[in-house]
Amino acid sequence: MVYLTRVEHFNAAHKLFNPKWSVEKNKEVFGKCANENWHGHNFELYVTVKGRPDPDTGFVVDAKKLSVVIKEEVIDKLDHRNLNMDVDFMKDKICSIENLVEGIWNQLKPGIPAGVELHCIKLVETPKIFVEYYGE
Ligand code: NI
Repeated sequence: MVYLTRVEHFNAAHKLFNPKWSVEKNKEVFGKCANENWHGHNFELYVTVKGRPDPDTGFVVDAKKLSVVIKEEVIDKLDHRNLNMDVDFMKDKICSIENLVEGIWNQLKPGIPAGVELHCIKLVETPKIFVEYYGE
């Protein structure tokens, strides 16, 4: 198996807020991330697929096709958006990167080109923190 990773970028605003809790409890649990008036990140998204190189092209996947799927299904929906308010697949979820990476996986999976399998999505929020999801 060969693993191929495509990297894309987006920036977006969010806040971590649980509507079931008081403002005080949200501040206690989420700290600055609960700031009512939002904050933003420059996200980096790593999408890894796996497969065997095609004998005719030598490619595991047409990277352009993969890029179009990522742009249409994910980047266009997240870039320059408010994750809490503007993104249908994050509705009624806490906008943590853990929930976001699962949402991105579910968005992408049906559109992954034939012949490869979605292996991992890595979502980098800051230089100090990222998540990886393998669909488990
Ligand atoms: Ni944040």
